Amino acid sequence: MKALVLSGGTGTRLRPLSYSMPKQLIPVAGKPVLEHVLGNIRQLGVEEVGIVVGESGPAIADVIGDGGRLGLRVIYLEQDQPLGLAHCVRLARDFLGDEDFVMYLGDNVLPDGIRDVAADFRRRGPAAHVVLQKVADPRAFGVAELDTTGRVRRVVEKPQQPPSDLALIGVYFFTAAIHRAAAAVRPSARGELEITDAIQWLISHDFEVRASEYAGYWKDTGRIEDVLDCNRRLLGDLRREVAGEVDAASRLTGQVVICPGARVVRSRIDGPAIIGAGTLVEESHVGPGTAVGRDCVLRDTRLEDSVVLDGATIAGLPGLHGSFVGRSAVVTPRRGENSCHRLIVGDHTRLEIAG
Ligand code: TTP
Repeated sequence: MKALVLSGGTGTRLRPLSYSMPKQLIPVAGKPVLEHVLGNIRQLGVEEVGIVVGESGPAIADVIGDGGRLGLRVIYLEQDQPLGLAHCVRLARDFLGDEDFVMYLGDNVLPDGIRDVAADFRRRGPAAHVVLQKVADPRAFGVAELDTTGRVRRVVEKPQQPPSDLALIGVYFFTAAIHRAAAAVRPSARGELEITDAIQWLISHDFEVRASEYAGYWKDTGRIEDVLDCNRRLLGDLRREVAGEVDAASRLTGQVVICPGARVVRSRIDGPAIIGAGTLVEESHVGPGTAVGRDCVLRDTRLEDSVVLDGATIAGLPGLHGSFVGRSAVVTPRRGENSCHRLIVGDHTRLEIAG
């Protein structure tokens, strides 16, 4: 079996972060989303991975390289424009050959892994096997309708009147039959080649499509709120590890990871939390659900339930919560006679200022 990981796309919902960083590289619990994805693929015993990339391909290749570090052999498939998930399958035709493959959206996180689903697919041998989870509002998803034996009767993309509350999540298992289907579909109303249309083509042509309902945690990290939620969930799996320096006046409670070269000075850290290599935390209180990147400075600050990327500085802020601070950003209060705020804010940034 091979793997096809989709890491192109535009990431509109993750602006402004996605202007400078592909969303698949955003760290959750200190590790890029894409590395969580590739870890799950490696757990299946799969070694050959094609990653579909758009214009941020070089940034992704800088981090993942040839995959050797992760026990994989990775090649990159360039997609000029995000023309849809079935377009990605078309692009990967030569790479995939006639092998079975798992297709995995590069921004989806499933910390409990996908081994059981892969085992189901291998055991039953359908033409395709999709993974489903019940969602509150299925209208934003591809939705499946099943018969009583778990065979998929119909799939529809973002239906106004959903036939069930079972959404297709970002992992699919396919045999080579999908290539005929992907070649046959035409662009949808939104101009994309939809994978749901290709799956529906299989069903309409009497191929067997099966489904598993996924019981574990699943998050599509398409929006900042999802990234923070996922970060909180994955930090919960950390084991305490203190490699950096913690002075005698500091206190650590719970699952806390202090990476090598980090320094904690007269501060308190309540886990789960991770402090990246080379970061200084001074006179600060870091609360649960926080991941701070490398070479940051947190001074005289209270921060919880947040993600801070590499090289950022936060000083003199007593209450940051649910925040996401980008690379090398500087967040400080303004000193001076008046209490005006001064903001230098990039496009599509969102600030919520207490007041
Ligand atoms: P989406 O999150 O559906 O699309 P997007 O990345 O364009 O995001 P937004 O809606 O915020 O603009 O894509 C799911 C995953 O599939 C994501 O990792 C990007 C990838 N993808 C491709 O690689 N090629 C494509 O043509 C599309 C549509 C998505």
